[in-house]
Amino acid sequence: TAGAAGAAGLVLGAAGGAATYAAAGEPSGGGDAPALATVGAGTVPFRGAHQAGITTPLQARGHVVAFDLAPGAGRKEAVALMRRWSAAAELLMAGRPVGDGDSGVARDAGPCSLTVTFGFGASFFDRTGLVARRPAQLEPLPAFSADRLDARRSNGDLWVQIGADDALVAFHALRVIQKEAGAAAKVRWQMNGFNRSPGATARPMTARNLMGQVDGTNNPKPTDPDFDRRIFVAAGGDQPWMTGGSYAVVRRIRMLLDDWEKLPLEKQERVIGRRKSDGAPLTGGTETTKPDLDKLGSDGKPVIPVDAHARISAPEQNGGAAMLRRPFSFHDGIGPDGTPDAGLLFICWQADPLRGFVPVQRKLDRGDALSAFIRHEASGLYAVPGGPADGEYVGQRLLE
Ligand code: HEM
Repeated sequence: TAGAAGAAGLVLGAAGGAATYAAAGEPSGGGDAPALATVGAGTVPFRGAHQAGITTPLQARGHVVAFDLAPGAGRKEAVALMRRWSAAAELLMAGRPVGDGDSGVARDAGPCSLTVTFGFGASFFDRTGLVARRPAQLEPLPAFSADRLDARRSNGDLWVQIGADDALVAFHALRVIQKEAGAAAKVRWQMNGFNRSPGATARPMTARNLMGQVDGTNNPKPTDPDFDRRIFVAAGGDQPWMTGGSYAVVRRIRMLLDDWEKLPLEKQERVIGRRKSDGAPLTGGTETTKPDLDKLGSDGKPVIPVDAHARISAPEQNGGAAMLRRPFSFHDGIGPDGTPDAGLLFICWQADPLRGFVPVQRKLDRGDALSAFIRHEASGLYAVPGGPADGEYVGQRLLE
């Protein structure tokens, strides 16, 4: 899912070639530091109207991690924690070491488009005495018939999404965030994901998922007139601290790849309603051609089947419900039954889950051709506040 953000040119710029470890006073390894390669130099700003990691193009590596506040920790500890995490994230995203005891794992690398994004789960507001500021949008997601959710790998008081185009840079950031949690919060669950590496294809295109499909084509695009309204919380809502923020729905979706891979190509394409080779709709054209949902084949049946995933999930079939899908693939080895524990860390962003994920998933749950090949195994919903202004830490408008 989600390559369209990249196609829309949201790359926030490969900043100059200066090795920022050296710039921070670290020895550069002798002599003049060589200019960083393009991938290393990619920098995403920490500050702005929105947090990084939402419209940022998909990165090659990702970690998502949820924390629970420690017993006894409340609002005061949460303030100190968000200050520490924000300070660390700003340094990390600039490619700079964090503190004297930096492990050096990211040494010699540039920022590699690292983003660190913070969110609050519903339980955070109970723990910090801020229930009056809990947005209605954090009401628990409804149960879906196909859910096989593991509570230990779901929800959590705090959520952090880390993405980078280098595995060591992403791991380094994860370790720093965990270390900076200190005694205030403990990891509840953590998941690792990946996407295609920059430069792996000759022509930049929408990402592929582990089923081999082009995934992310019909994402809302930042150039759409209603993009901001659909994805980000507008000013003037009942929780002013969420202005510029977004709600993240996170689902660990296992793919039943042995079953999927046995399906002949023609059937695979009917499950989605798009061609596997180039992502074009079965009604013809190229990847960006609008699917013709009314077109009938010579057998009198819709060319894009009635249960095709792309038909059922389309905004025009769901009262305009739309979300920005920005996932990572995952692979956690081979299970005891010999099948891969692999699939999609589905992450979608919207201004209101009740006008994004929820109605669409309800409909998919009732009869999507893809459902036979996937299993939702974990779930989370987080309020991700707007980006920090100069001098602010993330979440300051909520916590102070
Ligand atoms: C479209 C795959 C789960 C919502 C698509 C497409 C593919 C795909 C290949 C067509 C290309 C595109 O427009 O991106 C998958 C896979 C999933 C999955 C493999 C699970 C492993 C979900 C879930 C939701 C969802 C859980 C939301 C509840 C959508 C939407 C579209 C879409 C909104 C765009 C429809 C349109 O406007 O044409 N998906 N999807 N998908 N999917 Fe999924």
